Amino acid sequence: MKIAILPGDGIGPEIVHEAVRVLHALELAFESETALVGGAAYEAQGHPLPGATLALAQAADAILFGAVGDWKHDQLERALRPEQAILGLRKHLGLFANLRPALCHAPLVQASSLKPELVTGLDILIIRELTGDIYFGQPRGRRTALDGHFPGTEEAFDTMRYSRPEIERIAHVAFQAARKRAAAGGRAGARGKVTSVDKANVLETFQLWRDVLVEVHAQYPDVELEHMYVDNAAMQLVRAPRKFDVVVTGNLFGDILSDEAAMLTGSIGMLPSASLDGNSKGLYEPIHGSAPDIAGKGVANPLATILSAAMMLRYSLDRADAADRIESAVQAVLAAGLRTPDIWSEGTNKVGTREMGDAVVAAITGKTIPSTRR
Ligand code: IPM
Ligand code: MG
Repeated sequence: MKIAILPGDGIGPEIVHEAVRVLHALELAFESETALVGGAAYEAQGHPLPGATLALAQAADAILFGAVGDWKHDQLERALRPEQAILGLRKHLGLFANLRPALCHAPLVQASSLKPELVTGLDILIIRELTGDIYFGQPRGRRTALDGHFPGTEEAFDTMRYSRPEIERIAHVAFQAARKRAAAGGRAGARGKVTSVDKANVLETFQLWRDVLVEVHAQYPDVELEHMYVDNAAMQLVRAPRKFDVVVTGNLFGDILSDEAAMLTGSIGMLPSASLDGNSKGLYEPIHGSAPDIAGKGVANPLATILSAAMMLRYSLDRADAADRIESAVQAVLAAGLRTPDIWSEGTNKVGTREMGDAVVAAITGKTIPSTRR
């Protein structure tokens, strides 16, 4: 097993460091190599995704990624901005299926912005298509308008597009995930459900999306399929989030809805993600960003990255046993009351990045979880 480790910018290096310590604590046989990415790579090598970093990612079985981005790079031309590193990795490696589980851990129910009765037991899986849509559609650019409301003035444009095979393959990922979750007893004996989120009432792209979802569904009669317009989905997510099981949607809608779903769980600092190609190779990253405002202060929550390492073991490295050990360890440290500032509440123990990592390592190796009550 070869893991490429790309810590990136801001809090990226701190949180990835803790996840790597957790992987070592499991005593698995793996090789790893670390490389620069994002703003850190731009500063050292003049490009956010240097050739050597891309080559390392291509050669690895899996990639553990921190976060990229810093305000100081926002003025750079688009091709050199840190965000291009993650977009480039997704595109070059064909990581089309983005899995973003939103799970409300029982001890953190109070941290949610919704009432506890709405989020207790919440367990949804957002599946976002990741290499198509308006994110990558051509043509795009700026020009002088020839028509429209103000001909002769400056305009900008992007292209929303999906091909049938792109929709088919993400639909299969969604139906299979729903089937698996139902088999694992996800929704208490209920059959799996896929909610396909689109804007078929307005957009051609998403009428094709809906048509293809219906066609592919014919192969999964055991799974329920429902369609929902994206505006309604945004509303239902805060009205009755537990009605969802698997949500599948395009790149842009998925970007927005997954942040919304994250907040339901209390903290964006808790949520991992997997971005997979068709052959179980994947890139694993927390869904939060680089948080430059708290970088280097030792207060960032490493749990989303640690849980991303668990997803990596499960989906790319065929070590579900080790993934289970990480997930149980995280449950144990939360149950023991340890909290980084982002999930802290009255009566719990406030700890830093390092102490949280120490606690997960202790839980994995069967040692007592250190109590650092302050
Ligand atoms: C995400 C992020 C990225 C995206 C940015 C950093 C380009 O918001 O992974 O959700 O828009 O996909
Ligand atoms: Mg996003």
